[in-house]
Amino acid sequence: MRVLAIETSCDETGIAVVEGTCQGEALPFGKASPLFFRVHKNALLSQAALHAQYGGVYPNLAKREHEKNLPLLFEQFRDEKVDAVAVTKGPGLEPALWQGIVFAEKMAKERSLPLVPVNHMEGHLISSLVRHSNILQNVGMSGELRDVTLPVLALLISGGHTEFVLMRKWFKYEIIGETLDDAVGEAFDKVARMLGLSYPGGPEISRLAEQSRKANAESTGSLKLPRPMLNTNTCDVSFSGLKTAALYALRGKDLSEDEKKDFAREFEDAVTDVFVAKTRKALRETGAQTFVIGGGVAANKFIRESLQKLIDQDFSDVEFRLPELSITGDNAIMIAEAALARRLSGLDDNAKEEVRAVGNLSIAS
Ligand code: KG4
Ligand code: ZN
Repeated sequence: MRVLAIETSCDETGIAVVEGTCQGEALPFGKASPLFFRVHKNALLSQAALHAQYGGVYPNLAKREHEKNLPLLFEQFRDEKVDAVAVTKGPGLEPALWQGIVFAEKMAKERSLPLVPVNHMEGHLISSLVRHSNILQNVGMSGELRDVTLPVLALLISGGHTEFVLMRKWFKYEIIGETLDDAVGEAFDKVARMLGLSYPGGPEISRLAEQSRKANAESTGSLKLPRPMLNTNTCDVSFSGLKTAALYALRGKDLSEDEKKDFAREFEDAVTDVFVAKTRKALRETGAQTFVIGGGVAANKFIRESLQKLIDQDFSDVEFRLPELSITGDNAIMIAEAALARRLSGLDDNAKEEVRAVGNLSIAS
């Protein structure tokens, strides 16, 4: 089955055609019935540089850019033969989501194809469980969804979300912890801005922090930050206090380049300490057999390495799946893979005549 997928939830316009085939016929996607993906075409246009001047994503600008970019990108897909159209329904910026939905609806109607709404966070989660290869430029990339032992614990970390999601049965999700205020990506972006770094700030902070670690094995910076909710009894997290603490720590100071690097490292350390502690707690409490991370912040090298260390040391019986780096950020491949996984499993109740954008759509709904 071939799916044309459209993603416009935030500041990336994505279109992809992915083919999915199922060997065997039964769930789960275990040894007997793996699912294979092949990316036929992938197009992605980032608006990040445009939004950089506002220090974050500006919804109406995003909407206008999607409106302009979708038909341009679609030119490459005009002759593609597909069996269904998938589109991100939410969560995200509603004006931006609507652009993708209206476009996808038109495609589906013109070609008499089913329209499959997809939850953006499920896209991050499922595509992170897929083992990808041939990653060069994404096109021709292939993937396998197989041998996943349930329950799966997912840590989804992006610019809009930070949540621990438990999947006991395929496509049934329970949020067992989440941020009480800001998403972690937002905190990275805001603190980067305080340091005079460009948007999106996550990769910038990560780059500086790495330089500080290379210069000194031990942290030598004098500015310290709190580890919010580190010892609370839940898997919830909070980043607004950390952001404010960063603001106060930096107020009235003119940091040297080295001091900026140390501060970026302290911030990344603080966030990572919290994720390591809460992941430990979540794994102990749920007995999950598979742990996966997804979302834009899942590209962060230090967070990836620190969680890997935790699993190696304390949870050797848990399988840790890390997403392919080229698709941690928003893209349409992940939307296609989630749609295909559901449809090929026969567990899809999602094909709709009409789709509505839902800005605050939960993965557990
Ligand atoms: O999933 P995503 O592309 O968009 C949303 O759905 O929000 O995530 C974007 C977020 C931004 O906040 C960006 O700064 C962050 O992911 N990010 C990173 C890294 N790369 C991207 N944060 C930390 N370290 C990174 N290497
Ligand atoms: Zn995302």
